[in-house]
Amino acid sequence: MARMQLFLLQFFEIVLAETFFLLGQSSSGDILLGNNSLIDGQTLISMGSVFQLGFFSPVNNSATAYIGIWYYNLPPRENKVVVWVANRNKSVDTSMASLNLTSDGNLILFEKGIKFWSTGTSAELNSPRLQLLDSGNLALTDGNSSRTLWQSFDHGCDTLLPGMKIGFDFRTNTSWQFMPWMSATDPSPGKYVAKMEAYNVPDFFTLSVDRYAKLGRTGPWNGQWFTGLPTMGNSILVRNVNFTYVSNQNETYYMTEYQTRSSRLNRLVVDANLTYKRWIFDGRDWRVFLSFPSDDCDYYNHCGRNSVCTKGYYSTSCRCLEGFVENKNVVGCARKEPLLCSSNQFSKEQNMKVPDTENATSRGKISLDACKKLCLDDCSCVAYAVINGPYGCITWRGELLDLRSFIDGGDDLYIRLPESSTSNWKEPVWAIVVIPVSLGILVLCCAGVLARRRRNRASTSRLQLQFPKVQKDSISTLDVLPSYDLRTIKAATNDFSERNKLGEGGFGIVYKGQLDDEQKIAVKKLSRYSSQGPDEFQNELSLIAKLQHRNLVRLLGCCMEGDERLLILEYMENKSLDAFIYDKTKSSLLNWQKRFNIIIGIARGLLYLHQDSRLRVIHRDLKPSNILLDKDMNPKISDFGIARIFEGDNALEDATTRPVGTFGYMAPEYISYGLFSFKSDVFSFGVIVLEIISGKKNRIFSQTDTSLNLLGHVYKLWKEGRSLEILDDALNESYTTEEVLRCIQMSLLCIQDNSEDRPTMTEVMTMLASEDQLLTPLKQPTITTTNSDGSFATNEMSFTLVGR
Ligand SMILES: *[C@@H]1O[C@H](CO)[C@@H](O)[C@H](O)[C@H]1NC(C)=O
Ligand SMILES: *[C@@H]1O[C@H](CO)[C@@H](O)[C@H](O)[C@H]1NC(C)=O
Ligand SMILES: *[C@@H]1O[C@H](CO)[C@@H](O)[C@H](O)[C@H]1NC(C)=O
Ligand SMILES: *[C@@H]1O[C@H](CO)[C@@H](O)[C@H](O)[C@H]1NC(C)=O
Ligand SMILES: *[C@@H]1O[C@H](CO)[C@@H](O)[C@H](O)[C@H]1NC(C)=O
Ligand SMILES: *[C@@H]1O[C@H](CO)[C@@H](O)[C@H](O)[C@H]1NC(C)=O
Ligand SMILES: *[C@@H]1O[C@H](CO)[C@@H](O)[C@H](O)[C@H]1NC(C)=O
Ligand SMILES: *[C@@H]1O[C@H](CO)[C@@H](O)[C@H](O)[C@H]1NC(C)=O
Ligand SMILES: *[C@@H]1O[C@H](CO)[C@@H](O)[C@H](O)[C@H]1NC(C)=O
Ligand SMILES: *[C@@H]1O[C@H](CO)[C@@H](O)[C@H](O)[C@H]1NC(C)=O
Repeated sequence: MARMQLFLLQFFEIVLAETFFLLGQSSSGDILLGNNSLIDGQTLISMGSVFQLGFFSPVNNSATAYIGIWYYNLPPRENKVVVWVANRNKSVDTSMASLNLTSDGNLILFEKGIKFWSTGTSAELNSPRLQLLDSGNLALTDGNSSRTLWQSFDHGCDTLLPGMKIGFDFRTNTSWQFMPWMSATDPSPGKYVAKMEAYNVPDFFTLSVDRYAKLGRTGPWNGQWFTGLPTMGNSILVRNVNFTYVSNQNETYYMTEYQTRSSRLNRLVVDANLTYKRWIFDGRDWRVFLSFPSDDCDYYNHCGRNSVCTKGYYSTSCRCLEGFVENKNVVGCARKEPLLCSSNQFSKEQNMKVPDTENATSRGKISLDACKKLCLDDCSCVAYAVINGPYGCITWRGELLDLRSFIDGGDDLYIRLPESSTSNWKEPVWAIVVIPVSLGILVLCCAGVLARRRRNRASTSRLQLQFPKVQKDSISTLDVLPSYDLRTIKAATNDFSERNKLGEGGFGIVYKGQLDDEQKIAVKKLSRYSSQGPDEFQNELSLIAKLQHRNLVRLLGCCMEGDERLLILEYMENKSLDAFIYDKTKSSLLNWQKRFNIIIGIARGLLYLHQDSRLRVIHRDLKPSNILLDKDMNPKISDFGIARIFEGDNALEDATTRPVGTFGYMAPEYISYGLFSFKSDVFSFGVIVLEIISGKKNRIFSQTDTSLNLLGHVYKLWKEGRSLEILDDALNESYTTEEVLRCIQMSLLCIQDNSEDRPTMTEVMTMLASEDQLLTPLKQPTITTTNSDGSFATNEMSFTLVGR
């Protein structure tokens, strides 16, 4: 139980650190026995001081109140974080109310002596015992026998705490379900219910109470997370939380379990806007680290039947499955030709959220081939997929509803094709306008295309049902950009020949090219099959077109013809920084002066992005391969595919549900909580500088002491006054000790765990320029300690959703 003690200690540390103490409240411990009662001002506090039960009012100074359970002594102080309410339908007059536990085991809320709410239970042994547990469960047991008569965990309100179930109990035919509060001050049940649908392949839905309409679903369980919520997989990185899924003849449920204090303080809330949010207490405050739905495609059947929803940064698009066409009579797509029993062709859709499973059948854990055969043997089977977890092979019949694709994660779905359809060519995305071939260079078309795309998006959103809209990021009018025609680019790149290939990015390949006028160009060609490409393309296009700085790669133009999406960029003679710093021979070409210039150049580019440009941009994927070098070794930041614009000053920090970026360069708060800010770029910058100085990769850094990564190693040496030992051997004696030490210390400041402790880019520039003493970095970066259990260092799970 050492862990428990540790938890208690840590918890008390927090409690004691707080100066706030509840006044006028008395606690009678964590247990209420028969013949006892609680009145306003009296509370139960769980043994480890995690939860408190008593009367509370969501409105200040109100004479009426509810019986509820909230976190004991955690912020926010003003408004308790209430996790459970007994009499949620109606409040009681506090001066006249009491919560009595009768000697025969019924817990009753009285108002003026009249029964207002009760558990309706009775104890056989006549020695009932009500206990508030550290889990937040209020358990009514029959005396010393551990028989539970009633527990609040079986009567959830809007909050799913660790250890609580959401699911279905076949023994009682009841579901463990959750309903949001009507409003922030009214805990009565709102319009929605979050519950698990006990289909043959169970799915966890949000339903509207009135119409029983499906509004969103998580998809079936794959053994580790809900298939429609692949970002849940990322939260495995928030270690110490176990997701449990049980499915047997008695019950089917989902539950989270905690292992440590920090992960214990997490809750999944269904809020009035029909959003599931997982909140985590990070030691200071509550933060959302998972939110569902997170985009338009998460809303049920957003694109209609047989149609795939794809969400990019700025827009949502719908696309018919192969073999289907848009049809005016249905919302979505209908078959081009009827399916025959003999149809034996399938098209494969990757990274999919599998369709609604209401009429699907689980065929158990069998191979992909065996699953295909089962589908072929069933004339009504229209699709199949094999997912991990208890359901294995799933086959569908009828219409395929609520399909979406993901950038990363999701499953392969095989769609049965009618016999004649042999082409593997995908249907074009409807939201993308195919533009006519432009005849010459410098036809000003790109801006027009983007405008049309935005109009089209407006028309697709009509398909949406009646639910709250996810807020969209705004995009200001795009500056007019030169458009190149495809023939010109083909000629310039030798028809995209292998020999002209410069590298491969997340969404496509970069080619070297030469225009007639001898100008060298780099052409980024988006993969035709990359379903999310168009939006990242548009993002990159609109951002980079608006940014001009000598330390940012310049966009010369674009080309959009048919399915092709090309970015024409200035050609950089020396490719990217990673080609130099990790390479034994090439690294000797970079002496200290060159490296220092590169560091300053990156800092300038980043300062411009963060502060000086018209837009304020967070790059989100800074790493050496995204730093390009021109013929004079001047660095230029490239690849704005996942960058974000922040307009105004208030949006300095924002939660994203889908951390994207590259391991080794991502800030801890981004990995753990999906929080990104200008300071997460600063973190990446710090890592890059240390890599430039040491010539080693943070991620695959290996030293005799494998428990350290590069960051931890540098910190350790720095503390021992041996920083210079990290210097790349290739530097020889070319360096200035003072500059090197200044850069190392500046980097250590940049990679601090707490984003607020990190400097801004303005401060970084000052540090690089001045000769004053720098601040001392506070603590060893935790990324290091995280490493000691091997989970980060050896985690080869592709977290680089769009990285290379
Ligand atoms: C509750 O009170 C009744 C009547 O005073 C008494 O008979 C009974 O033993 C008490 N029960 C408990 C559990 O104290
Ligand atoms: C209650 O009062 C506190 C402090 O005066 C305030 O911060 C808080 O917002 C109020 N809560 C509600 C629900 O009005
Ligand atoms: C609360 O009210 C709703 C509808 O008004 C009703 O369905 C539900 O049974 C009530 N719950 C309790 C505990 O009284
Ligand atoms: C509930 O408990 C209070 C305080 O112990 C007591 O005064 C009241 O009579 C009890 N109410 C009922 C209905 O038993
Ligand atoms: C419960 O346990 C206590 C002490 O262990 C004992 O004194 C008491 O008689 C027990 N009560 C019942 C109902 O078993
Ligand atoms: C639960 O419902 C099913 C179908 O409606 C029925 O067959 C079964 O007997 C019910 N079980 C219980 C315990 O009520
Ligand atoms: C189902 O419940 C019965 C009785 O409640 C129990 O004996 C059985 O072990 C349970 N089965 C499973 C798989 O939990
Ligand atoms: C969580 O899972 C790990 C690994 O499967 C296991 O060792 C641990 O006991 C689990 N913790 C809880 C609280 O269930
Ligand atoms: C619900 O949405 C409205 C409008 O978008 C917003 O003002 C409100 O804060 C949201 N409520 C919650 C609990 O997220
Ligand atoms: C499942 O089948 C029923 C009955 O045919 C139909 O009403 C329902 O819409 C189908 N559900 C799905 C998701 O296809």
